[in-house]
Amino acid sequence: LDNGLMRTPPMGWLAWERYRCDIDCKYDPKNCISENLFIDMADRLFEDGWKELGYVYVNIDDCWSSMERDKDGRLQPDPNRFPGGIPRLARYLHDRGLKLGIYGDMGTHTCGGYPGTTLDKIEIDAQTFADWEVDMFKFDGCYSNALEQELSSNVKGFERNGPPHWLLMQLVNYTKLGQICNLWRNYGDIQDSWSSVLSIADWFFENQDVLAPAAGPGRWNDPDMLVIGDFGLSLEQSRSQMALWAIMAAPLFMSNDLRTISGEARSILQNKMIISINQDPLGIQGRRILKEKSGIEVFWRPLSDNASALVFFSRRTDMPYRYKTSLTKLNYTTGSYKVTDVYTGQTDVLKDSTDFVVSVNPTGVVMWYVSAPGKLRYHPILWLDAL
Ligand code: GLA
Repeated sequence: LDNGLMRTPPMGWLAWERYRCDIDCKYDPKNCISENLFIDMADRLFEDGWKELGYVYVNIDDCWSSMERDKDGRLQPDPNRFPGGIPRLARYLHDRGLKLGIYGDMGTHTCGGYPGTTLDKIEIDAQTFADWEVDMFKFDGCYSNALEQELSSNVKGFERNGPPHWLLMQLVNYTKLGQICNLWRNYGDIQDSWSSVLSIADWFFENQDVLAPAAGPGRWNDPDMLVIGDFGLSLEQSRSQMALWAIMAAPLFMSNDLRTISGEARSILQNKMIISINQDPLGIQGRRILKEKSGIEVFWRPLSDNASALVFFSRRTDMPYRYKTSLTKLNYTTGSYKVTDVYTGQTDVLKDSTDFVVSVNPTGVVMWYVSAPGKLRYHPILWLDAL
């Protein structure tokens, strides 16, 4: 969507995967969906170096609202869990340079059973969120009727009369979608497990010929939240999710507990080089370029300044695999390149034709930032320096 927003994939924190519909503030006060949870996460983003790296959204998902609309027909937050109201929460975030996201659903109920936004309520709900100074809105589609489905099918970019179901992805008009939204979820919900992360990555790369061209500044495919820092992923798998999400130019919404996150998870999520790859201003979504019989897969994303990113990923479950290749075999043109391992910081200079070996751990990655030092670009400052 060309509204000047999200020229690079949005980054922040989103409640759903980790906190779901936990509304039990009596017995689980630290984790229930309440203003305290969002204030806690805002404090962590602000104080622990996340905000400077670009993680600025704090997004409420389902189960925030009261079961009843107010006397004027407006949605209202649960009064016990959000006693200060949404505008005060928005102000708290804005005062710290952060942004607020909220959730709604086109239909009678949200997926969690809270009041939905039927067609006659769209105007008033949009106005309510605007009045509250909400910065981002996620629009779900549970419990919709046939007319809503048809309209939302159009809104979401599906062809008229086409079954509005993400499985039938060839029916989705991604051009239209990119004119209407800044990002869209097009696959199932992520869970806190490696099998879930892997199935999502597989789906996005299997469909890359359709999906990748749809992405660009202001319009992103969303493979769902980062679950790094939760319980289901090993260290290697956490590095893999971060690497593959960066290749995909995916929105980076963490769903974890920033109050207790481990140093290991934090250093993956705060890796500056991977973030800058994810946030590359060209906004070109990367692709899988090789699927080897050995179980090694290679991913590539073109970046600004003649650079690129490479990910070597192993589906193996035995031992670190020594994968031998060369930049020529990976379609790089003649020349010498500087490669930096984004996780270890090690650098090397490689000629295109030189064979090299990367050792890739089971379910892990090796990720490189590749630049071409040999190529002189026209850049006024560099020319002045040279003189
Ligand atoms: C759907 C969405 C999830 C989450 C839940 C909330 O399943 O895909 O991301 O928003 O609804 O109920």
